[in-house]
Amino acid sequence: MTIQNPIPQSRALNIAIVGATGAVGAELIGCLERGAIEVSELRLLASARSAGRKMAFHGQDVEIQELREDSFVGIDIAFFSAGASLSRHYAPLAIAAGARVIDNSSAFRTDPLIPLIVPEANAAAMMNAPLVANPNCVAAIATVALAPLHRAWSIRRLNYATYQSASGAGAAAMEELRAGTQAALDGEEFAPSVLPHSYAFNLFSHNADIDPETGYNGEELKVIAETRRILDLPQLPIGVTCVRVPVLRAHSMALSVRFEDHVTPDQVRDCLARAPGVRIVDDAAANHFPMPCEATGQDDVLVGRIRQDLGDPSGRTIALFVAGDQLLKGAALNAVQIAERLVVGAAT
Ligand code: A2P
Repeated sequence: MTIQNPIPQSRALNIAIVGATGAVGAELIGCLERGAIEVSELRLLASARSAGRKMAFHGQDVEIQELREDSFVGIDIAFFSAGASLSRHYAPLAIAAGARVIDNSSAFRTDPLIPLIVPEANAAAMMNAPLVANPNCVAAIATVALAPLHRAWSIRRLNYATYQSASGAGAAAMEELRAGTQAALDGEEFAPSVLPHSYAFNLFSHNADIDPETGYNGEELKVIAETRRILDLPQLPIGVTCVRVPVLRAHSMALSVRFEDHVTPDQVRDCLARAPGVRIVDDAAANHFPMPCEATGQDDVLVGRIRQDLGDPSGRTIALFVAGDQLLKGAALNAVQIAERLVVGAAT
């Protein structure tokens, strides 16, 4: 892959969003509005179904255009958030047209030549590549907390249990959660069409396909592979169970982190209190810990319930509970932070 020069911030940039009408697309617009990059043109791209509709950017209406092969002429940075198959087809066309691509899909995340970036964890691995992959939302949120802990004490094993929101399955799944909950409250039948099971007052194992060899589902395998890549720990033993819960847009996760040597909860709390992108929510007296309703709309990842994991009597394992907005740090915000690092001087 050809290494590009940093984009100078001496002029306002032309930005495209593929999948602008989706749950992540709408958040990308918001993150750009409050971000550090000066935008000259914002080109909103979606399917023919949405062409001609308008979305607001800095109070101005921007007309949505149908995604086409020549949609990227004059674009400096293109964000992709419309699924892996569209990314595979159109991202190379965008690069050929001279754009840098930040891809939110899973299309390129395991390609060793394409950086997979969470700026708080591994910004140096970005190396001005023309295409940067934005990680799976669980891996992105978790590694904001895990990277500083690994730098301090070397992580040796990791266990995850996740509590994942509807937004990870897109805007239609969020709508299905609302409609299914209303139907349940009204005592009406509701047949889900986006997710495989009824979501109202229920939870279920993540809907990604099960790999027959490992028994892990596709989401769990992504979390393992991507956490290893972001932390640059290709052999790290990781166990994970991913579950969908009836929450609109923030993911939560219980983490059990084993270090090389003994580490205390106070040491972990001090380390994370100084970590960028982390907010400690750990009030044992009030029984107040990270919750998805408080993580929603927040840039920071909330971390709490920091305690020794009694499952490991050696004292080397710490348990944590983490909540982060799936659409922000788990997707759009991380993508815009990557873009800000591509532009000289724009990173905050
Ligand atoms: P559209 O709204 O026009 O269907 P989400 O992940 O929230 O479901 O969003 C998916 C995004 O991908 C939407 O913006 C959707 O646009 C877009 N998309 C889906 N299919 C296509 C397509 N064939 N060409 C361009 N954009 C597409």
